[in-house]
Amino acid sequence: MDIRECRVDHMTEPVGYLLTAPTFSWITETIHAEKSRICIYKGSSLFYDSGFCGLNPLGTRLKLDLEPRTQYMWFVEAADENGRTIRSARNYFETGMMDSAWQAKWITCGQKESRLPVFFRNFIPEREVASARLYICGLGLYEARINGRRVGDESLTPGFVVYSSHEQAQTYDVTDFISEKNQIEVLLGSGWYLGRFSFGTGIRNVYGKNYRLIAELHLRFEDGSEQVIGTDDSWQVKRSRILSSEIYDGEIVDDTLPALPIEQAFPVTEEMPRLHDRLGAPVKLHEHFKCDVLHTPAGELVLDTHQNMAGIFQLRVHEERGKRIRLQFGEVLQDGNFYRDNLRTARAEYVYISDGNERVLEPHFTYYGYRYVKIEGITDFHPDDFEALAIYSDMPMRGELKTGNEKVNRLISNVIWGMKSNFVDIPTDCPQRDERMGWTGDAQAFSETACFLADPWAFYKKYLYDIRMEQRQRGGAVPDVVPACGLERSSAVWGDSICIIPWNLYVYYGDLSILEDYYESMKAWVEYVRGVDGDDHGWRRVHQYGDWLALDAPVKGDLKGGTDVGFIADVYYRKSALITAKSAALLGKTEDEKKYYSLADNILKGIQDEYYSLTGRCCIPTQTAAVLTLSEGLNDAGRAKKALSEYLENAGRSLTTGFVGTPLICETLSENGMAEMACRLLLRESYPGWLYAVNLGATTIWERWNSLEEDGRISSTGMNSLNHYTYGSVVSWIWKGIAGISPDPEHPGFQRVVLKPFINRKLGRLEAAYPSPSGTYRISWEISDDTRVQYSVEIPAGCTAELTDINGNVCELSTGVHRFSWKAEKRLTRRMSIEDLLGDLILEDELAAILYEEVKDLDYLLSYTREYPLRETLTNLSYEAEHMKRIDGRIREVLLV
Ligand code: BGC
Repeated sequence: MDIRECRVDHMTEPVGYLLTAPTFSWITETIHAEKSRICIYKGSSLFYDSGFCGLNPLGTRLKLDLEPRTQYMWFVEAADENGRTIRSARNYFETGMMDSAWQAKWITCGQKESRLPVFFRNFIPEREVASARLYICGLGLYEARINGRRVGDESLTPGFVVYSSHEQAQTYDVTDFISEKNQIEVLLGSGWYLGRFSFGTGIRNVYGKNYRLIAELHLRFEDGSEQVIGTDDSWQVKRSRILSSEIYDGEIVDDTLPALPIEQAFPVTEEMPRLHDRLGAPVKLHEHFKCDVLHTPAGELVLDTHQNMAGIFQLRVHEERGKRIRLQFGEVLQDGNFYRDNLRTARAEYVYISDGNERVLEPHFTYYGYRYVKIEGITDFHPDDFEALAIYSDMPMRGELKTGNEKVNRLISNVIWGMKSNFVDIPTDCPQRDERMGWTGDAQAFSETACFLADPWAFYKKYLYDIRMEQRQRGGAVPDVVPACGLERSSAVWGDSICIIPWNLYVYYGDLSILEDYYESMKAWVEYVRGVDGDDHGWRRVHQYGDWLALDAPVKGDLKGGTDVGFIADVYYRKSALITAKSAALLGKTEDEKKYYSLADNILKGIQDEYYSLTGRCCIPTQTAAVLTLSEGLNDAGRAKKALSEYLENAGRSLTTGFVGTPLICETLSENGMAEMACRLLLRESYPGWLYAVNLGATTIWERWNSLEEDGRISSTGMNSLNHYTYGSVVSWIWKGIAGISPDPEHPGFQRVVLKPFINRKLGRLEAAYPSPSGTYRISWEISDDTRVQYSVEIPAGCTAELTDINGNVCELSTGVHRFSWKAEKRLTRRMSIEDLLGDLILEDELAAILYEEVKDLDYLLSYTREYPLRETLTNLSYEAEHMKRIDGRIREVLLV
């Protein structure tokens, strides 16, 4: 296809989404488009025609007078300078209720009975139905059925929003559900809205006190007229056999329960918040996993899915009446036994009482963060009866990257699973314990990585919308968690998400609409911080998380790390002011541009006065402070580079960073001529490092560097998730720093890229494909001998790149495939020997292993002979010449990078 990926608000053929001034985007493949044209049809009549003009394929925003509940067809044409034209396939989009008035009423039910309610109504179409749509929102969560058949393929609808300020409705095409006599049924569960949810034990009803339902079924006949069946007090309620279904605690179903008398639904009397068409990426079921059966030392029956994930399951059961079956979910085994203490108070289970019939069990309004399942109560369990089902927001997956190092490949897969497990309608911190909340700090830290791995535009757009809703209730403050669920604090790095996420989306997609939409929110945040800061740096003194979970805290166990929290707060305040200034410039808001640049300058002055010596030395001696000095250009780069490398050496060439420093450290090292050190951090196999977890069998990213100790024991239970994605943010650097492809913010959306691969022997080779919004880039490099590298890159139509080769030479590339055979000026590998200092030898993992085998009392020697050549020390200790030769030989054999 010459023109492909035609999208509306970055979604393929969306139905019922909130489309206020939608953007249209596409990729033109075969010609160089001078001009393009968008045509939109309503039925057979032309609704909009841009004519041939200079449209931006990355995002052309149209102000259209769209009508509610209407399908539009559209296509794009592109013309080259010779007038040759090509045309896309036809695509459609369909509006939801928009601002039209609902005929249906919000209804509810009595609260005496706790079994989950099913609201229902029978109906007969007046005539033959040509098409049918269901517009619906049920709170906390709903599942709709027509004539027993489940409507849609989404889970956890209507999703998690700031319910106190707005609700969102889904639209479903139910044309082929309708027959002569029909019943519509809607099962409601408590979900985030009224179930047990939020930070702290026992908190329920954060947003609502009772179930709520609104639904409108539009049956359209051939002549265009409609019959509308809406919720009102004619609807009735029957009770399900689900006793409870809760996000944290799981589900309890008792099929032996008798049917209860039918109740009457009644209207909701209080005013409900605004109801609008939905946003986001629908949560769906994805991968299915078969499991291995384990019989643990404690005598338990445990299933291993081999992948930690957010998910539910299907289980076929056939037990005698009254038999109780229980499933419990956990992330890790301890001593080979089932374990779940790190889930804190989340019961995370599924309990079923059988009525004697064969059933396939599947939970409704909960999900679990798990790899292992403990099963009780099944007489003769067969592994084929169980399937694990991964659940996450439906986004197109994007970048694929493989290196010659299987452990790094596993790490990337773990990061992808960290993302999938924590993209469950909102970006959560973790999917398993009694938290699963939209922590803004984690979300911003991961947002660039998400743009490489998937297409998260629609997903983040919903989240940003909710951040804005929270800000409106708090004078611009962004709460640490969104939806806030009663948590009222706002902190640096976390709240800065409202500037960082839209900016990253702009850079990765080149669609200015995200800045147009969120500019006022960015400004509101910066102004909020300015207010708290006042004339005396108040922002430094309010609650801050600092470099959360960093390893360099002066007081053991302090979660905020060793970097001054006021410094971090100021640096992020400036970062947000700069993003706001840059956005103002792009949006033509000259006054604001000046204002926020000057604010950024003032903040910088305050930072320099307080945290740097007159000669430019940062007074905070931590890796994260040095990283921020360099990445944010806060002061003399030379001194900061020296300091950073010194701190890394002092820490045994390992990182001590937390949620602030870790997402930035490798990229900062790469950009400051220390890419080798960045690779060393990536490839470090021992604690603390990314491959440490891989070596311990991790299948996702952990919350802490030592979530598990070396012997596989869990390090603590208070706050220890094995599925937290923040440290997975290293993947954006693997793309930018090793595959070497970065978007150029001056030419956003990958119209132009910076190519700067880093060739590393331990990775050996790399192959990557990135389907960017401007077309697909393909990169590969491979080391063919000690100094030679084969490199190739494919640049998509209409794009350009600046390539820096292995020796630092720069060249321009345009569309097409380019192949190079580079000869490195320096050898790509190095070797050491017995003549090197013990302190240097011990820093190389492989050499350390040899030395521990060969040299007696090495730990003791390390305490006082680090600065001496190893030969000298061994000679002083009267080692035999033969033995020293062997040690030297073994050291020389190891190829180092
Ligand atoms: C969450 C984090 C979050 C942090 C903030 C934790 O409980 O799991 O990921 O960012 O709190 O302090």
